[in-house]
Amino acid sequence: MPEMIKVAEVGSIPENTGIEVEVNGRPVALFNKGGEYLAIDNACPHEGEPLSQGDIKGDHVECAYHQWKVHLKTGETQEIPGYFIPVFKVKVIEKEIFIEV
Ligand code: FES
Repeated sequence: MPEMIKVAEVGSIPENTGIEVEVNGRPVALFNKGGEYLAIDNACPHEGEPLSQGDIKGDHVECAYHQWKVHLKTGETQEIPGYFIPVFKVKVIEKEIFIEV
């Protein structure tokens, strides 16, 4: 059975931005993309900087440091096709946001 960890409340992440949350001690980037919540590993595949500080560009987050792009749903890195970082299932129950692990 997957475990659900509460990480934030609806309304706590402005639209089209991301925040860093912690899931079992691991930093995860949680984004509000036009009202849809998406979560990926927070470490950029380039040099490990936090992707939560990046800008949402279409279906990708663009890292704030050297502009690498990671797909928000698949975790695929645009600069290294076929290389995926972990993505996490997000559920919203009433006004609370959970990540499934
Ligand atoms: S650390 Fe993200 S692009 Fe360099």
